[in-house]
Amino acid sequence: MKAVELKNGIYWVGAIDWAVRDFHGYETPRGTTYNNYLIMDEEITLLDTVKYDFSDITIKNIRSVVDPSKIRNVVINHIENDHVTSIDKIMDLTPNAAIYITEKGKKGLDRFFDTSKWNIKIVKTGDTLNIGRRTLLFIETPMLHWPDSMMTYIKEEKILISQDAFGQHIASAVRFDDEFITCQSMSELEDAVIDYYANILMPFGQLIKAKIADIQKLGLEIEMIAPDHGIIWKANPQKVLQMYLDMANSKTNLSVSIIYDTMWHSTEQMTLPIMQGIKDEGVECKVIKLRATPMSIAIKEFWKSRGCLIGTPTLNNIMYPSVAHFLTHLRGLRPKNRIVGAFGSYGWGGGAVKEAYEDFKRMGLEIFEPGLQILFKPSFEDETKCYEFGKEFAKKVKEYHQKF
Ligand code: FEO
Repeated sequence: MKAVELKNGIYWVGAIDWAVRDFHGYETPRGTTYNNYLIMDEEITLLDTVKYDFSDITIKNIRSVVDPSKIRNVVINHIENDHVTSIDKIMDLTPNAAIYITEKGKKGLDRFFDTSKWNIKIVKTGDTLNIGRRTLLFIETPMLHWPDSMMTYIKEEKILISQDAFGQHIASAVRFDDEFITCQSMSELEDAVIDYYANILMPFGQLIKAKIADIQKLGLEIEMIAPDHGIIWKANPQKVLQMYLDMANSKTNLSVSIIYDTMWHSTEQMTLPIMQGIKDEGVECKVIKLRATPMSIAIKEFWKSRGCLIGTPTLNNIMYPSVAHFLTHLRGLRPKNRIVGAFGSYGWGGGAVKEAYEDFKRMGLEIFEPGLQILFKPSFEDETKCYEFGKEFAKKVKEYHQKF
């Protein structure tokens, strides 16, 4: 690879990670990229770095445009490892460059590196940096998704360097949205945006709405959104802005996901009549078996549906471990505006369905009760109960969906 020009001497100088499938525990079946950007101006400026393993690649890409020793400013929008761990290699090449970072970012940077010899300048929302023909405006975005996070807006070019926000975990030979939808598809790009939002940004919907409103209040025209992962929104930045607003406003499909696991197939056997009941009420339904599905995909499917039924057998009086794992993960993402219920088989005393409802209550989700428990194996009559359970759940989902 070499640098790719976004516009008028502004270059992508990042790296493509084709192979990553486990991104700190988040499955990334499409790989990812670590995007960073170089602005050629009177003061040459680098926006972000990349994950340590790819430092030689970004340095090579920078060299394809300019000698890195000529970089005068380095902006660090976010200090998570995938973006900051090659900063020391960059600073070795240009030790006198100034680093621009938020106050919280500086505190973290000090823990990761010996920063004593670096010229670090703290910035906050509204601060600007003139680099010659261009002006950079800094916009703090705390908790989107770390306390240190910020974005940088290149005023004269109307480009928002948005850091993690608006990104996607996609490794691709192309850099821009219009190229991607030509060689792949818009639906794949949308799916990657939803996947990223559901697994990383789900807890921060209110903050996202507020921050987009702040950006609108600042009157910033946005002609391009360049995130630090995946495809750059060059042709249609409004597309991803609208997707984020919709997701932050809890817009989703009138559909149901059945997310389950099974021990000896009894809980699995319950899913089919439940699914049929849901479909017969005219509601779309998707069935996901947890041990056959990456966690990030199960989370995404939960997020894409207004309703979710959790299927869990009872094992030693508690939930099946993979289901408990899923619900723990989900609880950390603080889901909202979804209706849930639970079902499952048991052999002795039961307990898993009750425990699932306890988790739902802790999450503050809308609850469909009572759950459905079947002893050992569904009989023909039990399958009818499952079908009715699915129908009743679908009716509630339709009713609940009207609120949004
Ligand atoms: Fe892509 Fe929060 O790091």
